[in-house]
Amino acid sequence: MDEWIEIGRVDTIPRRGARCVNTPNGKIAVFRTQDDQIFAIDNRCPHRGGPLSEGIVHGASVTCPMHNWVFDLSTGQAQGADEGEVRSYAVNVVDGRIFITPDLMMVAAE
Ligand code: FES
Repeated sequence: MDEWIEIGRVDTIPRRGARCVNTPNGKIAVFRTQDDQIFAIDNRCPHRGGPLSEGIVHGASVTCPMHNWVFDLSTGQAQGADEGEVRSYAVNVVDGRIFITPDLMMVAAE
């Protein structure tokens, strides 16, 4: 686990809620589902940039607060008739602590 970066505890995120983590490559939204699964995707909706962390979580999906596109939290894929995707990221939960991979904290090569 040494190479993973801790970003906080599961119990600091409300069920069916999210919090943002700032990375050098933009904000990622870390979600907690009703059944305590944790997912991380880009916070920025690919439609018009809505903040997905402020969306409505249902099951393992989130509905964008701006125009109601729905994204699968595990894959980042838009669902139904909506097209597009956000990047999804690996997360690891150990003893209630959430970890992300260190490459998220590195600046992307130009
Ligand atoms: S900005 Fe997300 S659905 Fe339009």
